[in-house]
Amino acid sequence: MDATAIVRDRTGDEPVAVGLVLGSGLGGIAAAVDGTAIPYSDLPGFPGAGVSGHEGALVIGRLEGVRVAILAGRSHYYESGRADAMRIPLETLKALGTDELILTNAAGSLMPGVGAGAVMLIADHLNMSGANPLIGEKTDARFVNLVDAYDPQLRAGLRAAAEAEAVTLHEGTYAWCAGPSFETPAEIRALRILGADAVGMSTVPEVILARFLGLRVAAVSIITNMGAGLAEEAISHAQTKAMAPRGAALFERILRRYLQARIRPRG
Ligand code: HPA
Repeated sequence: MDATAIVRDRTGDEPVAVGLVLGSGLGGIAAAVDGTAIPYSDLPGFPGAGVSGHEGALVIGRLEGVRVAILAGRSHYYESGRADAMRIPLETLKALGTDELILTNAAGSLMPGVGAGAVMLIADHLNMSGANPLIGEKTDARFVNLVDAYDPQLRAGLRAAAEAEAVTLHEGTYAWCAGPSFETPAEIRALRILGADAVGMSTVPEVILARFLGLRVAAVSIITNMGAGLAEEAISHAQTKAMAPRGAALFERILRRYLQARIRPRG
């Protein structure tokens, strides 16, 4: 059985309305879902999500009444050198019926005065990694158009949800650096000149894959630190995990309000 068949076997045939990918320290949202968690290790083609702070389970269930599929834990390019490690999980979400994907990540801020605990809606990205998940793809579909890759309508919905919750939602450009080492201060200065507002080690390959698959995409960065050299504090993964829950709580409020509005558009 492939992953989709296994998921259907365990959770039924009801189509999924919204897919979610949770980044470092954001796993708490999956725990709030009323549903079934299937470990990635049970799903052929899913990554052995090996980074601490990542759950490594596909959670299918309801959040605010909306049928969701949550990828709690992702594989990063820096783990394997493969940028397409999330291809089968994303294909599985599509096969389960969704055409809407909301991605999250932990990120460093390049925005003056916007630090740990802030939440940023991604409007566009800079791919600084040199990698692409579609290298080797044979069909002409590989020439994916990335104008409005971050769907304007979904972004408007998330902005409206943030406003209704009185949560400040910044908006800007996310730079994908390969990692796993953090950036140098010189790289951060260069990224600022290039127009980046946040920096991280994920999300962009999934956005490219999702657009390739025809999914509509929105993505949100949870700011866990200032970019290298922009603050006194030393950057570490421990700090990422410690700070992510703050912004994650704000994101959860935005997400719940967003999902409520899907069911009751004027309510
Ligand atoms: N750089 C890259 N990735 C990150 C950072 C950062 O400063 N913070 C959290 N993830």
